[in-house]
Amino acid sequence: DKTLLSIAIDGPAGAGKSTVAKKIAKKLNLEYIDTGAMYRAFTLKVLENGLDPKNENEVLSLLENTEIIFLNNHIYLDGKIVDEEIRNNSVSKNVSYVSSYSEVRKKMVELQQEMAKKNNVIMDGRDIGTVVLPNASYKFFITAQPEERGKRRYMELIEKGETDIILADIIDDINKRDKIDSTRKESPLRIPDDAIVIDSTNLTVDEVVDLIIELIKGVNKIVL
Ligand code: CDP
Ligand code: CDP
Repeated sequence: DKTLLSIAIDGPAGAGKSTVAKKIAKKLNLEYIDTGAMYRAFTLKVLENGLDPKNENEVLSLLENTEIIFLNNHIYLDGKIVDEEIRNNSVSKNVSYVSSYSEVRKKMVELQQEMAKKNNVIMDGRDIGTVVLPNASYKFFITAQPEERGKRRYMELIEKGETDIILADIIDDINKRDKIDSTRKESPLRIPDDAIVIDSTNLTVDEVVDLIIELIKGVNKIVL
């Protein structure tokens, strides 16, 4: 349906995609879809079943009997809300292996495309503008320097009350995950040709939100 609006947001870990996308969803009355949460939920199931995320056959053996739904800002794994569990460290460390398998991606992409056919959406991930919604109404690529992204994740964990965390380890994990995500064969993380790139290193959340809304509304139209 051509009348539906879709906003694609891609970028590396900790760039602020989901924080920004949620705020824009509220302001513009769009459905927010967190595609990373879907890959995280499936990774959680792989780990809960004692399977090896680096073993493609083991991972794929679970795929058919798995139901993953992102609805009203909650992620459901086989009918159970797993919003908290999918953020744990072992999921973060393993999700990039699980998300690299083409069968896994195929299933998630189909689900994501179905959602975009039903509502006006803002969707964030790694392959939204390139693969999931190649005809999105608007495409943005949000990034920030790795040290800044690591600091943001670190602050989140401190605020959650975690104590035994080391900033350097978090930056290291983020860099590792970005490397796997951008070098994998299947739909690697890359800037879509027609995306607007926003470097949020020195911007606040609200500055990024306002910038995107201005760009969508055409206030900052570049005149050639
Ligand atoms: O929020 P954070 O940046 O930590 O990651 P996320 O958006 O929750 O995504 C977790 C992982 O899922 C990424 O590192 C990718 O491996 C994978 N992912 C993907 O492959 N494709 C997407 N569209 C979204 C996430
Ligand atoms: O989804 P993604 O992994 O790109 O990032 P996120 O989960 O939204 O986390 C970004 C964190 O950095 C959040 O704690 C935000 O409050 C903070 N932050 C941001 O998102 N954007 C800025 N410009 C500054 C800080």
